Amino acid sequence: MIELRSDNAAGVAPEILAAIEAANTGSALAYGGDELTAHVQEVVRSVFEHPTARAFPVTSGTAANSLALSAATPPWGAVLCHETAHIITAEGGATSLLSGGAVMQAVGGAHALIEPARLRVVLESVRWGDPHESQPSVLSLTLPSDHGTLYRPDEVAALTAIAREFGLRVHLDGARIANAVAALGCTPADLTRCGLTWQARVSRSWETIGTARPRLNLRSQSRAQKGRAVTRRRRGRRRPRGPRRGCICMPRPSPSAIR
Ligand SMILES: Cc1ncc(COP(=O)(O)O)c(C=O)c1O
Repeated sequence: MIELRSDNAAGVAPEILAAIEAANTGSALAYGGDELTAHVQEVVRSVFEHPTARAFPVTSGTAANSLALSAATPPWGAVLCHETAHIITAEGGATSLLSGGAVMQAVGGAHALIEPARLRVVLESVRWGDPHESQPSVLSLTLPSDHGTLYRPDEVAALTAIAREFGLRVHLDGARIANAVAALGCTPADLTRCGLTWQARVSRSWETIGTARPRLNLRSQSRAQKGRAVTRRRRGRRRPRGPRRGCICMPRPSPSAIR
């Protein structure tokens, strides 16, 4: 029988338990200063072919999503995602809580996938610079989607290009990205090199990955809008903290996966 529920529900494999026991010797620096975490970073850089990616192990997919998004959006930002996305339907508001109030904004689309044309319409209808409207700051893609459908690498690239045109960062919830890699017959880097990503999972599979864009990309906005955005930012904005370039938050790294 195959266990298809979350790894929060499944028992841990004996190999993982054995690896944890093997790692539990002597002492090691805390806060990511230990050798195992350094090795995780090298593995992540190699798998995602990203020489400056940084890995931040965390305890669950919800934590990874929430922390990654909190680093990518200001509190007045909006995270655009498909209406079926886990971050909007199943994380109990954790993503908004950790990002200081940013809203998850649903975008429709057949087969649980965001269509590039629809994304453009949504972005073109935003009242950019209007302090009454949450300003889209991140596009979040789920791959495979919550219904098991897939974006091809060129579709990820097309969506990322539109998002960046409007100054958004791109976040990829890859809770099951290994399944996508297997189904698409591509490499993990094929799915992430086109754009900017924010985190990843190792135990169930890779969670999500991300990189950074300039601190506040306002190239697509007019000077007046830019001025208003910067003013708002100075007035009330907490600058996104934490992971910036090539950041990867990984729920539950298993020692066996990093040996
Ligand atoms: C697509 C997706 N993202 C995130 C999560 C959250 O992971 P966790 O249950 O470890 O918090 C899940 C959980 O099933 C998921 O399916």
